[in-house]
Amino acid sequence: MRVLRDLEFWVDPSKSTEDDLFRRMQAERTERDPSMLSLDDPEHKRLRNLVSGTFTPRAVLAWQPVVEQVAAELLDAVEGKEEFDLVDALANPLPAIAIARLLGVDDSQQADFKRWSEDSVTAGFNMFATEEEKAAADRAQESLEACFRAEIQKRRESPSDDLIGKMVSANEDGDQLTEREIVTMGNLLLVAGNVTTSDLIGNGMKALLERPDQYAKLTHQPDLLPNAIEEMLRFDPPVTQSGRIAPKDVEIGGVLIRQGQGITTVVAAANRDPSVYPNPDEFDIEREDTHHQSFGGGAHLCLGAHLARLEAREAIGALIRRYPNLRPSDRGFTYKRVPGFRGLSEYWVRT
Ligand code: HEM
Repeated sequence: MRVLRDLEFWVDPSKSTEDDLFRRMQAERTERDPSMLSLDDPEHKRLRNLVSGTFTPRAVLAWQPVVEQVAAELLDAVEGKEEFDLVDALANPLPAIAIARLLGVDDSQQADFKRWSEDSVTAGFNMFATEEEKAAADRAQESLEACFRAEIQKRRESPSDDLIGKMVSANEDGDQLTEREIVTMGNLLLVAGNVTTSDLIGNGMKALLERPDQYAKLTHQPDLLPNAIEEMLRFDPPVTQSGRIAPKDVEIGGVLIRQGQGITTVVAAANRDPSVYPNPDEFDIEREDTHHQSFGGGAHLCLGAHLARLEAREAIGALIRRYPNLRPSDRGFTYKRVPGFRGLSEYWVRT
């Protein structure tokens, strides 16, 4: 927490030492331009301020009916089935559809959108990505860029109040975002907000269904859902680590960190600190102190945290209402393999 919240620490990889992990990660990235995630102030603040209004708790609440509707439609599609893959049916498509609607991308592009964002994440943040994965990420980035440019062009001809429209009109007010910056921002929102939220829904449901008493409790007391979601985030976070670069020589936990050295902050470990949480390895939807580090902290605190929570509430809320007896199926589950991220590519459940 100390490292993440310290506003003096950097994230810009060009400020890290040559051999540092930050530099090596950046060299592997397919991202064309740095996004706010890897920029320090003042550039970071400028970019973040331009879109932050869309992600406040109040602004996000306006999306509730849309997300609720999407969750219902997705579950209607598996209605009557004895078993289904929860990731494929709900966790994967829901955030992609939500973010596409928020940005204002045409509904017909949503399947492509999801695939492009998955391909980007698989290689974009993964220094162990194979050549094949990197090539797929490159292609995905090109397609995304073309899609965003077309959407921007449409907004120039006919303004709209979706997020791309807002970014374009901010641009046309004089200062503000260039076309390149809008493309980078759209890309970031898609990549940062998509797989992560799918993984929250998947990991959270797995934690619940493996503990039938907890699932039953939630179906009887659905008002526990917001607390349950915080506990899911604490217990099995979709992003297991973030990081910062030391702006000067500093000592942390008795270790000297030299200026320019990167620090990996393993939020998944902090979330289970036994000096903070009683029985940290226990998953308890009624836990009193569910605060966690899963959205990072300080200047780069996850911009989409409220949206992610809303999506998880709507997805999991719809499941507990429709399927009070839901349980894991013998067909099991599979984890994805992207270092720093943790989520399921398949999770079969019985109704
Ligand atoms: C459960 C889902 C999510 C998790 C676990 C998550 C996690 C994170 C983490 C760990 C960071 C880095 C924070 C730091 O280093 O201090 C981050 C940053 C960010 N996230 Fe999320 N995120 C999620 C969903 C979303 C969504 C839905 C969006 C937007 C649609 C989003 C947009 C962003 C952006 C733009 C940043 C960069 C913020 C900055 O650099 O100022 N995230 N997120």
